[in-house]
Amino acid sequence: MKRFLTIFFIMSILMTSFAVPAFANEEETTISKQEQQKMVNVAHRGASAHAPENTMAAFHKGVEMKSDYIEIDVQMTADEELVIIHDTTVNRTTNGTGAVGDLTLEEIRALDAGSWFSEEFAGEKIPTFEEVLDAFRGKVGILIELKSPELYPSMVEKVADALKERNMAHTNNEKIIIQSFNHESMELSKELLPEIPHGVLAGLTWAGVTDEQLEAFATYADYFNPNQNIVTPELVDRVHAVGMEIMPYTSRSQEQANRLFDLGVDGIITDYPEHVYHHPVKNN
Ligand code: G3P
Ligand code: CA
Repeated sequence: MKRFLTIFFIMSILMTSFAVPAFANEEETTISKQEQQKMVNVAHRGASAHAPENTMAAFHKGVEMKSDYIEIDVQMTADEELVIIHDTTVNRTTNGTGAVGDLTLEEIRALDAGSWFSEEFAGEKIPTFEEVLDAFRGKVGILIELKSPELYPSMVEKVADALKERNMAHTNNEKIIIQSFNHESMELSKELLPEIPHGVLAGLTWAGVTDEQLEAFATYADYFNPNQNIVTPELVDRVHAVGMEIMPYTSRSQEQANRLFDLGVDGIITDYPEHVYHHPVKNN
């Protein structure tokens, strides 16, 4: 009996030592599982740590990894077609060269947007905006970033038209958010799409954003989405105080995600959806 009790005691110690937490970040953050479940999980340019950014493969991966939203960067071709690509040239993420705005849709669609990431993704194309809307509406939220709208004078209207044509502008049941670093474009977009939530993106230069500036943003924006490096507990409180939500960008490690959890943000824009606990969608 004594021997049995000794073995039982040793087994108990070993089981406690090797117990795996239910969530990767469970022991590293101070917030509860319930609070983590409310955290909006945004796959930045799709699940871009796992597939070439801003391709259908990356967006499908984001859905597969149970993100709440995929984030997409919208630009416009020479023949005024909306396409999904981050840089204002195709040089970094395709086998071509040149400015997005100087190339036609046909030229853009002939490019390989996957091989630079891995041969496994050879043949991936630069998607069109409409292709992404049609493929993912109702399956995952879409956080639409208008990238450099100052280069493309009709882009705001064209994005609004594409949403209206699909009856996606009346309510936010389909979970659409539009955001941009160009805040004037957001004011215009909000006028065209008053029922769609909008976001103001804020880079490092906005570290000293004032309450007056936040109040002005809140007249047309629902989100203040800053670079993660300017986020403090005070900033989170001040954004909430004017009635906006805050989803910082771009988390690329579990430590960064945990810090943002602890700061009390509403969502995390990340290349790694697996760093944010998979959870039911938070309503807008
Ligand atoms: O969603 C915000 C984030 O995407 C902004 O930065 O340069 O990755 O478009 P960037
Ligand atoms: Ca972006």
